[in-house]
Amino acid sequence: MGNENKINNKVMFNLGYGLYLATCFDGNKHNGTICNSVMQATSDPQQLVVILNKNGYGCQTILKTKKLNICPLTEKTPFSVFQQFGFKSGKDTNKFENITFDGKNASISENGLAVLNSYANSYISLEVTETNDLGTHILFVCKVTEAVSLNTETTISYNYYQQNVKPKAVPAAKKKFVCTICGYVYEGENLPADFVCPWCGHDATFFEQVG
Ligand SMILES: Cc1cc2nc3c(=O)[nH]c(=O)nc-3n(C[C@H](O)[C@H](O)[C@H](O)COP(=O)(O)O)c2cc1C
Repeated sequence: MGNENKINNKVMFNLGYGLYLATCFDGNKHNGTICNSVMQATSDPQQLVVILNKNGYGCQTILKTKKLNICPLTEKTPFSVFQQFGFKSGKDTNKFENITFDGKNASISENGLAVLNSYANSYISLEVTETNDLGTHILFVCKVTEAVSLNTETTISYNYYQQNVKPKAVPAAKKKFVCTICGYVYEGENLPADFVCPWCGHDATFFEQVG
């Protein structure tokens, strides 16, 4: 017997995460993938684990090159950066095309990979030492080869992103329907066909849309 009914998937949202840009280089172009699944595994030696979806270009590239940078993003990172690196794939786009490697917007670290200086507070260069196939994702065990602080801005958490950066869904516009008998106003997307006026008891055919 499975224990699906004992697993409330929403409970996973109670786990806390930061948000990072995992950069890599396929030999031709730089790429960056937004990810939350990054954590320090040991401090002596310094090792991190990073988990990436197999469908991602970043994951496929890192499987081949065994190298990546993790750039912790700051709370000042705008939604456009998440759109650029988190909603598009390096399979069909060059995500760094319009970003200048001038040391202010972006730069190249010692291992030859991109750093997003404009929105990262630091970067950690990694070499993959082990991979573990988790089905949909690959878990990368990595050793740290360089770790550099860029500024003292706070790393953005997944919660902060959800609450302050990601645009809120716009609720469907409400319409107004007035009862032509008594003036009761119903507000909603549509007046249900079986609606009965709570004031005078007349049915939906007595209502007129007024806004
Ligand atoms: C807030 C946020 C968190 C994400 N976390 C992860 C993650 O932990 N692992 C992952 O593989 N993808 C994650 N993604 C999705 C990838 O960033 C996304 O699929 C991206 O388009 C992949 O790009 P790529 O194909 O160039 O690697 C996240 C996206 C967002 C917006």
